[in-house]
This record gives sequence, C-alpha cells and structure tokens, in this order.
Amino acid sequence: MDIKTIGIIGAGRMGSGIAQVMATSGFEVILTDVKDEFIERGIDNIKKGLAKAIEKGKITPEEKEKAITKIRTTTRLEDMAEADFIVEAVSEIEELKFDIFKRLDEICRKEVILSTNTSSIPISKIASVTNRQDKVIGMHFMNPAPVMELVEVIRGINTSDETFVIVKNLTEKIGKIPVESKDSPGFIVNRVLMPMINEAVFALMEGVASAEDIDKAMTLGANLPMGPLAMSDLIGLDIVLSIMESIYKETKNPKHIPCPLLKRYVDEGYLGKKTGRGFYKYEF
Ligand SMILES: NC(=O)c1ccc[n+]([C@@H]2O[C@H](COP(=O)([O-])OP(=O)(O)OC[C@H]3O[C@@H](n4cnc5c(N)ncnc54)[C@H](O)[C@@H]3O)[C@@H](O)[C@H]2O)c1
Repeated sequence: MDIKTIGIIGAGRMGSGIAQVMATSGFEVILTDVKDEFIERGIDNIKKGLAKAIEKGKITPEEKEKAITKIRTTTRLEDMAEADFIVEAVSEIEELKFDIFKRLDEICRKEVILSTNTSSIPISKIASVTNRQDKVIGMHFMNPAPVMELVEVIRGINTSDETFVIVKNLTEKIGKIPVESKDSPGFIVNRVLMPMINEAVFALMEGVASAEDIDKAMTLGANLPMGPLAMSDLIGLDIVLSIMESIYKETKNPKHIPCPLLKRYVDEGYLGKKTGRGFYKYEF
C-alpha cells in the first residue's frame, strides 16, 4: 500500500506533534481542526518544535522549511478525501470520536486505514461506528510526539493482520518504535504508569513522606528519570485523574480508584506545571 498523504484530525498538542513527525519524515500532511485559530496555534507549535529540533542538531534549517511546506491545513473534514492514511487526534470525548469516525468512513476511500490516538476509548468501540472495522486501529503516540520514541499499536477485535503490519511499518518509517498492545484499559504505558502516580499521591495523602522525598526515593531508589509526583505535574493532574477514572470505569477494580487528594487538587485548579501549581509550585 502506497501511503503518501497523511490526514491528521485535530491540531492540538498531539495532532500538531504528529503532523511535525509525519512532515519531517517526508509525508504530505493535511491537518484539520474546527477553527482557523486552533490550526494557527498548531502550526505555531510545529514551528517551535522544529526550531528545537534544529537546536538539538536533529534537522537543518532547510529541512525545517521543507517540513513546513509539506503541511496543508483545512477546517473541512471533507478534504480528508485526499488522504491515504488517517491519524485522529481530537479531544478525548467518546461521542466526538464516534461522529468523526462515522464521517471519515464516508469521506475516505475504502482502502484507507483510520487510526486513532485515543488514550482510553476502546478501539473496537470506535471501529464499530464504521463499515471498515478491519481498517480501524490504535496508534498511540506519547507526548511530546516529536520527542518520544514509543508508539503503542492497538488492534480492535476486528483489526486485520494487514492493517496491523502497515501501521507497524509506518511507525518504524517515521523513526518510532512500535509495541503491540491488546485493546485493554490504559494499554501498556498508562496501565502501569498511572496507578504508580496514583499510589504516590496516596502515599503523600497518608503522610508517608513529603512530595520531595517520595520523588527522591523513586528517582534514586528505582532509578526513574523523574519522580511520579513531578511527572504528574508535567502531564497535568487533570489528565492523570481522567485516565485513572477511565481505567476504573472499565475495570471496576478498586486498585484503580483515583486518590481523593488527586481529585481535591484538580478541584482546586492545581493542575501541575501548566497552572503554576500542582504537587510543586512553578514560577513563570
Ligand atoms: N496530551 C497527552 O499527553 C496525550 C498523549 C497521548 C494521547 N493523547 C490523546 O490524543 C488525543 C488529543 O489529545 P491532545 O492532548 O492533543 O488534546 P488537545 O485538546 O490539545 O487537542 C485536541 C484538538 O482537537 C480539536 N477538535 C475538537 N473537535 C474537533 C473536530 N470535530 N474536528 C477537528 N478537530 C477537533 C480541538 O479543537 C483541539 O485543537 C486525545 O484522544 C488524547 O487522549 C493525549
């Protein structure tokens, strides 16, 4: 299958990062969002990301310019008719994703694979609204997409072997490392990482140790590059909470109940680095 043009739905944090990865890997990109201002913000993110890549010596200024010319933008989902492969990265709202997939199923050519970057919605559920369940798959990039090497590739119940192989090969072609995961709550990374962060918040709530000491223990004692509470501040406490809630909703396992202190912080607006306050305080 010849993939030349990648359609990306949603120009937010993930969609813009994925567009950057695809464009620097030589693909034509069609990037869509609902408003011009969201697209402009996405393009701005891409330019900043490419500038950082130059600083790190990963690309040249010429490669940056070339990558930018490869990205076309539109607010019309219908323009995805030209795409050979889709990555959907709209907000994590079930009904929104169902609507987008129903429309993409009508708009895109019948051989086009529709992948989703969802963190928590079952792939089979998304596939079920289409008439091409064999061509719907999870392609879960990590944040920030241009920097993180891993992509979790998730098959729904009816995803075909052919679709899986195409996505695995595409992942490698863009310089990422694919790992196959079952369509199970949290896939692999969030299933392991989020309960660890949640447990660290329980330890803080119970007064086992201070935030600094919990993080120091986990960096020096478990050789993690960053403590779980600092990592939670970076990810966003609201995101950690919503992922724990969605894992719990699926598993109903008490070990996945979000820590009450995490909820209180989110209620207070302590969302981490992005609001200047999470488990730590940040100066802007
Ligand atoms: N942020 C993360 O750390 C992370 C990591 C991996 C996966 N994800 C997943 O990636 C997806 C996107 O997350 P994000 O963090 O980029 O969110 P975001 O809020 O930054 O971006 C979502 C974008 O989707 C756009 N959008 C909403 N409705 C749309 C529509 N009908 N058509 C086109 N665009 C539409 C929004 O305007 C917004 O720009 C979610 O499914 C999320 O679970 C997020």
